[in-house]
Amino acid sequence: MDRKLEYTPAVARATAPLLEKVKEFVPPVEWPLVAPLIYAINELKKAKRAVIIAHNYQTPDIFHCVADFVGDSLQLAFQARETESEIIVQAGVHFMAETSKLLSPEKTVLIPSLEAGCSLAESVTGHDVRLLKEKYPGIPVVTYVNTSADVKAESDICCTSSNAVDIIESLGVDRVILLPDEYLSKNVAAETDVEIIAWQGRCEVHERFTAEEIRGYRKATPGLFVLAHPECSPELLAEADYTGSTSGMIRYVKDRRPPRVMLVTECSMSDNVAAEVPDVEFVRPCNLCPHMKRITLENILQSLELMRYEVTIPEDIAAPARRAVQRMVDVHVTGRDYGGGMAPEVVVEDRASVDPAAAS
Ligand code: 13P
Ligand code: SF4
Repeated sequence: MDRKLEYTPAVARATAPLLEKVKEFVPPVEWPLVAPLIYAINELKKAKRAVIIAHNYQTPDIFHCVADFVGDSLQLAFQARETESEIIVQAGVHFMAETSKLLSPEKTVLIPSLEAGCSLAESVTGHDVRLLKEKYPGIPVVTYVNTSADVKAESDICCTSSNAVDIIESLGVDRVILLPDEYLSKNVAAETDVEIIAWQGRCEVHERFTAEEIRGYRKATPGLFVLAHPECSPELLAEADYTGSTSGMIRYVKDRRPPRVMLVTECSMSDNVAAEVPDVEFVRPCNLCPHMKRITLENILQSLELMRYEVTIPEDIAAPARRAVQRMVDVHVTGRDYGGGMAPEVVVEDRASVDPAAAS
């Protein structure tokens, strides 16, 4: 589509309040290039009656300037289900777009880049889950939403980092398989008496942070308040002052305003929160998620213009996957923080341990 992207006086006027929000993160010399994209996206969104739902890890230009809804994985799932718009543009990664499609099958769900994957989603397949179920017959499978629809289809119920403990306890059993994040599973095991069987998946962003690094930051920065995501290792969480989902961390900082904070999670989140709490000082160890960063203003605009890339899920996978996601949504929990207890020993399975063919 031949759209003129010019920084006209009208564009400057319409985007001025947005510049105010992100001026710390978008250099003023770049604004004449960025503002026309923002303006075009917001106009096209209105014309097509589309919504953009963005994860907390999106960059400030997307998070503050074009998103209609922002949140953690659980909040995005609810928003996808509740929106009245016929078109959802998912500014996040592929599993989030699939979750939106599962909850809103009649809507058009677009993901601006097909390369926006996730190391956790790639760590496990539906075949792995079938083998795990053979190894542990009758044990319910609880699946983190950071998985493909194929894996969800093999699961009893889904969870996110903010509701994992409640979801597991809602089942009324004494043992569950919790897939695929080994660290999340160990951290959840520390919060419940339910025995957890884990899978050896890792988030490539959170596994890079170490407890030693946190101790170093604390030593160098008096009064530092450390908030960490439960996809970090249990050793790291033992060094943190607060653990919760991305929205849990944001809520804590906005409500309690610790004067100096460090968010041990994906890098852009500090920028997004800092723009809203100027009185809080942020110490920023920066680990970027390369998958989240595949989404840009440019490809969001193309996505809306060309209606690409549409997320589709074959019905034989969508029906059982939807059941698992819907069951999570029906449990009606809004999220809880992690208390930081000691993790018990957890069995961690992997492909070699469930698949004799892979082991040989
Ligand atoms: P939240 O559900 O806490 O937002 O975390 C999900 C995540 O890791 C996204 O990559
Ligand atoms: Fe996946 Fe980690 Fe990136 Fe989230 S931050 S999308 S869990 S790789």
